[in-house]
Amino acid sequence: MSAPNIETIVSLAKRRGFVFPSSEIYGGLGSAWDYGPLGVELCNNVKQAWWRWMVYERDDIEGLDSSIILNRLVWKYSGHEDTFSDPLVDCRECKTRLRADKLDDGKCPNCGSTKLTEPRPFNLMFQTHVGATAEDDPNALVYLRPETAQGIFINFANVLTTSRRKLPFGVAQIGKSFRNEVTPGNFIFRTREFEQMEMEYFVRPGEDERVHQEWIDSCFNWFTRLGISGDDLRLYEQPKEELAHYAKRTVDIQYRFFPERSEDERQWDELMGIANRTDFDLRTHSKKPEDADGKRLNPDSTEDLSYFDEATKERFYPYVIEPAAGVNRTVLSVLMDAYSEKTNDKGETRVILKLHPSLAPIKAAILPLAKNKPEIVALARSIKRSLQPALRAVYDDTGGIGKLYARQDEIGTPFCVTVDHQSLEDDAVTVRDRDTWEQERVKVEDLQEDLLKRLRT
Ligand code: GAP
Repeated sequence: MSAPNIETIVSLAKRRGFVFPSSEIYGGLGSAWDYGPLGVELCNNVKQAWWRWMVYERDDIEGLDSSIILNRLVWKYSGHEDTFSDPLVDCRECKTRLRADKLDDGKCPNCGSTKLTEPRPFNLMFQTHVGATAEDDPNALVYLRPETAQGIFINFANVLTTSRRKLPFGVAQIGKSFRNEVTPGNFIFRTREFEQMEMEYFVRPGEDERVHQEWIDSCFNWFTRLGISGDDLRLYEQPKEELAHYAKRTVDIQYRFFPERSEDERQWDELMGIANRTDFDLRTHSKKPEDADGKRLNPDSTEDLSYFDEATKERFYPYVIEPAAGVNRTVLSVLMDAYSEKTNDKGETRVILKLHPSLAPIKAAILPLAKNKPEIVALARSIKRSLQPALRAVYDDTGGIGKLYARQDEIGTPFCVTVDHQSLEDDAVTVRDRDTWEQERVKVEDLQEDLLKRLRT
């Protein structure tokens, strides 16, 4: 079948409790979304998969959880205060505010007018104030972080000394970021509050280009390991004029988020960026030491973030390779990619969410074939309870078995376990596979091991 569009996913997500429009009972808040019972599980599973891959499967990466609100100077020296902006224009006819860089033909997409104001920069950082001071006190002004990365750079020396690391090594962080986007939209694709999974990998200058390429390949593979089809993923080399102020080279991993668009080029958008940030960040946050060159010295920092190599007796600023992905865009791509439809033998079309088992919000649904038979209900409930510490299981008896299977298929549950009359005789249950609809009889005492094995493959 053809790929679903975002609207299909919005409807499934709301119907089944993955994602709800935020503040709905008060009329909503543009482009803010709440993750429901299944959505929070899916997000957590994506984050766990990323953390396992980044931190546990390697031996050169540490974790960190830094503050969302940082000293304002961090954003001054990172360059965000001056340059983290979008060019904005207003339509003089209908007053719509637009991003100048997204206007293909210089016309307002709302009313078609070409009467637009000159572009002006609009800083995307949300402002707030700390402490019980006046709203307009400039000394109390702070920002909500627009990326998690800076929290890692300012902790470089802390992590280095406490973990006794040597180059190359990385620091990984998952957390919320905030951007006052001018044109948010497309469901959870672009929102003002979102979650990032970022890793800053510190290397010797000169090794950066090779390591950058290794991370590009590794990140692409990670998305395919999550089950996303390679046909809907591609690499995009950012041209020089698109590069952020700190980047020497950036390659994006793009997903085909908009398959319904007619032009192939416009079907794709960014899922993850992998940047070579050079030594920009560590230098810009460093107090100038006596013996370093004078490039970008910082009068406000109290710390030099250079690295001393014991073996070569050299001091230098490490280069940084940064794979940065969005949790929400990963969730969207995973949902779009998993969406499929299948016709049953009655000719009815069923939605099946073929999520990778590691991402599925619920791993097994325990379903009694007859809910009016207390022995069957009791056995099903006790199976659910015994599985629960090892894997996320649910019990459901709120419909006929066909309806219960359909419901679990639609939310991506890889296995349904059916308890029937025969189970009371032979201590066995039926395990049904979401993707093939094949069923197999398994002894209750072997069930946990059996399911865990199926989930691992
Ligand atoms: N530290 C580098 C950095 O923040 P970015 O390309 O601006 O790079 C990284 O952001 C990832 O964060 C993007 O690839 C995207 O997945 C996600 N992201 C960025 N802005 C977003 C937004 N407004 N809504 C949802 N996700 C966003």
